[in-house]
Amino acid sequence: MTRILITGANKGIGFALAQTLGNQGNSILVGARNADRGQEAVAKLTAQGISAAYLNVDLSNNNTLFTAAETVKSIYPDLGMLINNAGIPGNMQVKAPDTQISDLQSTMQVNFFGNFTLIQALLPVLETNRGRIINITIPTAANPFWNPLAYKTSKAALNTMTLR
Ligand SMILES: NC(=O)c1ccc[n+]([C@@H]2O[C@H](COP(=O)([O-])OP(=O)(O)OC[C@H]3O[C@@H](n4cnc5c(N)ncnc54)[C@H](OP(=O)(O)O)[C@@H]3O)[C@@H](O)[C@H]2O)c1
Repeated sequence: MTRILITGANKGIGFALAQTLGNQGNSILVGARNADRGQEAVAKLTAQGISAAYLNVDLSNNNTLFTAAETVKSIYPDLGMLINNAGIPGNMQVKAPDTQISDLQSTMQVNFFGNFTLIQALLPVLETNRGRIINITIPTAANPFWNPLAYKTSKAALNTMTLR
């Protein structure tokens, strides 16, 4: 059994990962920014016989990340895996030159700075446990059809960090 923190585990790919890894006998920490949505996911997982608990993780608010890391250190010191799944698309409708700086900033915060901050805060526990970090990302090479600037820039930064 590995204790696994999955960010954005209340829905989508994160929830599917929580179900799959939970059904394999792992214990899931549901990282979610909204307590009601997080607890609802925990209830669904628990009803399926999966060991799960909620952890407040808002990647747009670094204070929640420091607090989450402190909670892990004190209550879940056996954390063995962090899956950085939560992410936002930014504005995918706008052409690159028309991208708003605020869109770039908010997308970078959630998809890159937040992940970096959470990794840095959890690294002591993960290193102690010889844990693993998995970042959910995309290929970011230029593409003639699809180049949303904020999303691709944030995932490119995440890819660079992942390869270090
Ligand atoms: N879907 C795809 O086709 C696809 C393809 C390649 C990669 N990905 C990547 O896979 C990951 C999950 O995608 P998805 O399709 O499952 O997305 P989704 O259904 O939109 O779910 C995104 C999750 O991230 C959470 N989230 C958003 N902002 C957050 C924040 N500030 N702090 C913490 N959590 C936050 C959401 O929480 P709320 O419910 O509170 O909004 C939700 O749980 C993303 O990183 C995405 O870039 C997706």
